[in-house]
Amino acid sequence: MLDSLDKLVSLCKRRGFIFPSSEIYGGFANAWDYGPLGVELKNNIKHAWWKRFVQERGDIVGIDATVIMNPKVWQTSGHLENFTDPLVDCKKCKRRFRADHLLEAKGIKPELGAMKTPPKEMTECPECGGELTSVRTFNLMFKTFVGPVEDESTIAYLRPETAQGMFVDFKQVLDSTRVGFPFGIAQIGRSFRNEITPGNFIFRTREFEIMEIEYFVREKEWKKYFEQWRKEMEEWIASLGITKNEYQEVDMPKDELAHYSKRTMDFEYEYPFGRKELYGLAYRTDFDLKRHAEMSGQELTYTDPVTNEKFVPHVIEPTWGVDRSVLATLLSAYHEEQAPTAEQGETDTRVVLKIPKHLAPYQVAVLPLSKKEELQVITKSLADSLRKKFRVDYDETQSIGRRYRRQDEIGTPYCVTVDFDSLNDKKVTVRDRDTMKQDRVAIDQLGTYLEKKFNA
Ligand code: GAP
Repeated sequence: MLDSLDKLVSLCKRRGFIFPSSEIYGGFANAWDYGPLGVELKNNIKHAWWKRFVQERGDIVGIDATVIMNPKVWQTSGHLENFTDPLVDCKKCKRRFRADHLLEAKGIKPELGAMKTPPKEMTECPECGGELTSVRTFNLMFKTFVGPVEDESTIAYLRPETAQGMFVDFKQVLDSTRVGFPFGIAQIGRSFRNEITPGNFIFRTREFEIMEIEYFVREKEWKKYFEQWRKEMEEWIASLGITKNEYQEVDMPKDELAHYSKRTMDFEYEYPFGRKELYGLAYRTDFDLKRHAEMSGQELTYTDPVTNEKFVPHVIEPTWGVDRSVLATLLSAYHEEQAPTAEQGETDTRVVLKIPKHLAPYQVAVLPLSKKEELQVITKSLADSLRKKFRVDYDETQSIGRRYRRQDEIGTPYCVTVDFDSLNDKKVTVRDRDTMKQDRVAIDQLGTYLEKKFNA
């Protein structure tokens, strides 16, 4: 586990996981692009999530709703009124801060409520000592206009959460599928929040992805399903290679609950910049379905097929940030170890990302010992045949030692080296990322050998 974010940020840029966005124009504050390895890792996480929670379960179906929805959705959900942060400006340096963050930094629990002037603990700008303005609330939704005319009637919003898509499509899912009860609707998608203080790499950005489930239950059973989802989330966190001592489960105090929630539990990860939210689990009651039913005039109920009882389901909502999943996976995977060099008896520091094998950007690296054509030909054809089953990197540059270290640094679980003996004995050397142990494996057995390793 890493104690400094800088090392990870630099590795991510150097190796093509995550780059600053629009860098040729000087970047764009707190916006990050996923590079060739980052997009693989992120997609692997999303695929693992979808497989686990949608495809391997009979009680959850997926949707993919639009980012720009009818603006009435946000009026009904309460986001237009309540999705706000308290904000103060420095009158001198013009910097902008979240009032609650300023208080938290001083170890004071924020109780901002209807407060208009900053409390006495927070009268000075933490950057320049200048005077702060009174507290204003600031809506986090990005506004836009739909169509060519920019007036009140064309205002729309980029969705700040994926959840509302699942609520407004509730009836269509019920009408078009054979889901039983209880059941869930799942979605992975981009969300947008005009955060006042984004930062800490991909931890808090203005554009990010959420993986989310709205799980519909009977009111009297909400506690049972809350508990079940807590366990599911713990198992998911373990599947990212995150250990129990790297995060805590924290019940949110009543006065900090979102406007729709009766109970929320945060899964807080020990980031290098402090313990902060990784995921959330909320009991949203029947707030959203009831409100949408009232405002749309549609009946948003479930009818028990046996008893014909009609009721508005209550909702348990487990939520996973995709980018925070990537960040926590990388932080937990990062290891620095002493390892032997090519020189007899000498060691140096090896950086290795021990990313869970099923999530690693490349599963196998195929490396010819030298660039000699006779080796290249068989190595390239071996790489091509493995590509049908595994995510494969082919690399022929630099010494074999350096190539192993590069693969360690990008988290590749297995390196397959083709050497001159391979031409005669038809065997290759397979090196394990974590143990650095090497096995000699017959080429015609290699696929089965690797499959066994990945399924172990
Ligand atoms: N529907 C509930 C909901 O959206 P949330 O806690 O506001 O809950 C869900 O957001 C998840 O999205 C969080 O647990 C976190 O992982 C991630 N998240 C929230 N704001 C983020 C931001 N500005 N940048 C990156 N990820 C964010």
